[in-house]
Amino acid sequence: MSATIVKTAKDATGEYREMLIRLMTRQFYAETATAEVFGRSIGCAPTLREKFIQAEFAEEEAEHSAQLCKLFEDLGLDPEVVHATRPSAAKFWSLDLDNWIHIAVFNFTVDRAGSHQIMEYRDSSYEPWAKEMNSVLEDEEGHYGNGIENLREFAKDKKVFAEFQSVYNGMLPVTVKRAFGRPTGADNDYCMKVGLKRHSTEQVLNRYLKEMVVYMKECGLKFPHFAAFEKVGAELMPSTREILASNQ
Ligand SMILES: [Fe+2]
Ligand SMILES: [Fe+2]
Repeated sequence: MSATIVKTAKDATGEYREMLIRLMTRQFYAETATAEVFGRSIGCAPTLREKFIQAEFAEEEAEHSAQLCKLFEDLGLDPEVVHATRPSAAKFWSLDLDNWIHIAVFNFTVDRAGSHQIMEYRDSSYEPWAKEMNSVLEDEEGHYGNGIENLREFAKDKKVFAEFQSVYNGMLPVTVKRAFGRPTGADNDYCMKVGLKRHSTEQVLNRYLKEMVVYMKECGLKFPHFAAFEKVGAELMPSTREILASNQ
């Protein structure tokens, strides 16, 4: 907690600025991708109520994206240029955007993984960014609430739930690898040293899984086996393996 607070864009310089832009870009990719996924999911949501909810989420993710655009502009970057480098959400997450089960699993896993990163950014040493994150996290609570609600809904039908489990088995390992990245390394240490993050990737990932497992146990959803994580090359620390093993 002793890292210096950086109060304005012009005070963010050198290595700090570079890392800040990398983290913000990662968040921007996630916000713009989720806006797109929720926007598309209006088409496959099964009820009118769900269609309204998906439309609302798409609007909120677009708003989060716009908040980041403003922060990029303050740093002298063109958001259009940053956005142009984002990989396709459907390809990046192996998502079928016309399949409601895929959307539900995405909301429960990928979107929530983003929230756990944002919890770190809310306490980050770059004040202009940290300040914006409270309102973002309030919206994200709503998204996760809906993710849990849908999980409970799917759990009522055995056959449909088996499909949910199978999509989850593919998506969680990819989320661990792509949304959290390597559990250790120089970048991780640097972010903690300068206060861009307050916890290690291992701690953030474990917090995410521990939150998730409560709802999984309630509904009978299991973590995928270790082989599924190895297959995509997701590195797991012993503390993470322990959480996964508790519900496989
Ligand atoms: Fe968001
Ligand atoms: Fe979200």
